[in-house]
Amino acid sequence: MARYDPDWIRAHYDDYGMREWGRWDESPVERVKFHVHLHYLRSHVHPGDRVLEIGAGAGRFTRELAKIVDRIVVADISPGQLRLNRENAARLDFAPAVEDWIECDLCDLRPHFGDGAFDTVVCTGGPLSYVFERRDDAIRELHRVTKDGGTVLVSVMSLWGSVHQYLSGVLQIDPEVNRAIVKTGDLSPETIGPGRHYTHMYRTEEFRRALEQGGLTVETLSASDCLSVNWAELLGEIDEDDPTWAHLIEMEIEACREPGCVDMGSHMIAVCRKAAPNDVRSSASD
Ligand SMILES: C[S@@+](CC[C@H](N)C(=O)[O-])C[C@H]1O[C@@H](n2cnc3c(N)ncnc32)[C@H](O)[C@@H]1O
Repeated sequence: MARYDPDWIRAHYDDYGMREWGRWDESPVERVKFHVHLHYLRSHVHPGDRVLEIGAGAGRFTRELAKIVDRIVVADISPGQLRLNRENAARLDFAPAVEDWIECDLCDLRPHFGDGAFDTVVCTGGPLSYVFERRDDAIRELHRVTKDGGTVLVSVMSLWGSVHQYLSGVLQIDPEVNRAIVKTGDLSPETIGPGRHYTHMYRTEEFRRALEQGGLTVETLSASDCLSVNWAELLGEIDEDDPTWAHLIEMEIEACREPGCVDMGSHMIAVCRKAAPNDVRSSASD
């Protein structure tokens, strides 16, 4: 089984540098995923919230959060990404909304943050896909640092969505390797061999179960994209200022949360709630 390797992640993202900032702009297909994530940030982060963005990278979503709130704590395991986030914040003028930039590991946030320190915790783009056997620790930490009644917004890599997007490449791989990847969800030394980029890709029910076992109530599950992933050429013809683009995003958002589509995007997004004590009492008395 693949093991969590924080040193590898730190080194990888330090080296990845500003490519992390640019990855949502690599193609119109990636732009769609960015907009679907943005929809959930805008719907569930509210002015006045204190927000932890863990695994924030170079700050693409920090910049968007700063348009809504002015109490963001940016956290990441990679000092290189944190430095870029701070530089981007200064360059693009969202630094005033950031309380601090903190180097830490999602699997144990206790040295940095107390229980219930945040109204909302945002963890997008797959940190939970890197932590392998520490997954339950990481989810427990997301839950712990969130206030009672608060929101946890999280996205992970999706198994079938990745196969969907990269099918032509997948079909060039030895079927035995593909079967092992599908069975475990892991890109790991055991499935793809040594010295590669290792990650765990989730199925919907596995993702839901893990979040629920961590004490979170899953209110919404959505793919990051599903309709347009194999229409790159068509998407390239649509200007983002064109009403057709807005219509496409509207349809993606609706389709992506249909139960039959949640597995079909490269990422899976969950909106979760940490129960308030009153919720527990009322459900116990139902
Ligand atoms: C793919 S990037 C996502 C960046 C941003 N959240 C987004 O959605 O665009 C993943 C980020 O998570 C960070 N990360 C991965 N594992 C982590 C962990 N255990 N604790 C904290 N950050 C982690 C990486 O350093 C990297 O900056």
